[in-house]
Amino acid sequence: MGRLAGKVAIVTGAAQGTGAVIARLFVEEGARVVLADVKDEPGREVARGLGDAARFVHLDVRRPEDWKAAVASTVSAFGGVHVLVNNAAILLLAPLTGTSREDFLRIVEVNQLGPFLGIQAVFEPMKTGGGGSIVNISSSDGIKGMNGVAAYASSKWGVRGLTKCAAMELGRYRIRVNAICPEAGNPFMSAPFLPEMSDIANVPHQMMQAILKAPDHATPASRLEDVARMALFLASDESLSCTAADFVVDAGLWAGVYQKGVPSA
Ligand SMILES: NC(=O)c1ccc[n+]([C@@H]2O[C@H](COP(=O)([O-])OP(=O)(O)OC[C@H]3O[C@@H](n4cnc5c(N)ncnc54)[C@H](O)[C@@H]3O)[C@@H](O)[C@H]2O)c1
Repeated sequence: MGRLAGKVAIVTGAAQGTGAVIARLFVEEGARVVLADVKDEPGREVARGLGDAARFVHLDVRRPEDWKAAVASTVSAFGGVHVLVNNAAILLLAPLTGTSREDFLRIVEVNQLGPFLGIQAVFEPMKTGGGGSIVNISSSDGIKGMNGVAAYASSKWGVRGLTKCAAMELGRYRIRVNAICPEAGNPFMSAPFLPEMSDIANVPHQMMQAILKAPDHATPASRLEDVARMALFLASDESLSCTAADFVVDAGLWAGVYQKGVPSA
């Protein structure tokens, strides 16, 4: 018996990266999973590799009509929806002063409006099914400030706010809503913006941290698989006491400042 036996999950942005790893782990743990993405062929390919317990649906998270169709197709294929992982997102690395109104709205529309529409779309089937778990993928950029990410970080802080408000409203229907704030993700997401690190895609994330000079207080690991395992925990009944919470998976990278010269282990 897997940790998600009997559960049906929708994972957005599952054609690659974190979403694909989450979908694979969920299937391994006994869930039936609908992988949703705008990248149809890669998404179908990942779903095919997962066998009969997986399906792909085309979903642009900005479009309420796509959500309606994706949820209907999930219910028709697998009989309900117990878990939603709002993972799809896009990145913009740009100076604040060089970020246009259109850029800002483009980021917010996918990263913040998308999860909002997703929560609305799964509410009825989750309520009818006696409850559920919604896992919103925020970011370590959703817990701190950084240069170059004004639009992206705004959207990821917004995801945490949405998480708490949704948890307040939906708890009475036994629907839990939590956020994960990962440091690790698909290096391809930032590669187009960092030409000076053109080989970024070939560098495992742990090494990237070393290259970027991880501070002395951080543990060396910041692994995508650990993000997926946190999503598994939150999707499963092992986390029934957890709602409205942020789960930081960043190897301690952004926990604080290590002061050299101050007594320390
Ligand atoms: N890459 C990182 O370093 C990093 C770090 C922290 C958090 N995250 C977060 O992790 C999550 C997964 O990102 P990733 O690293 O796997 O990146 P990724 O680019 O590999 O995956 C994002 C997926 O979302 C899909 N997507 C984009 N727009 C969409 C839309 N409108 N509708 C549906 N799907 C859409 C893409 O096609 C892609 O498959 C995101 O929420 C991201 O913000 C990433």
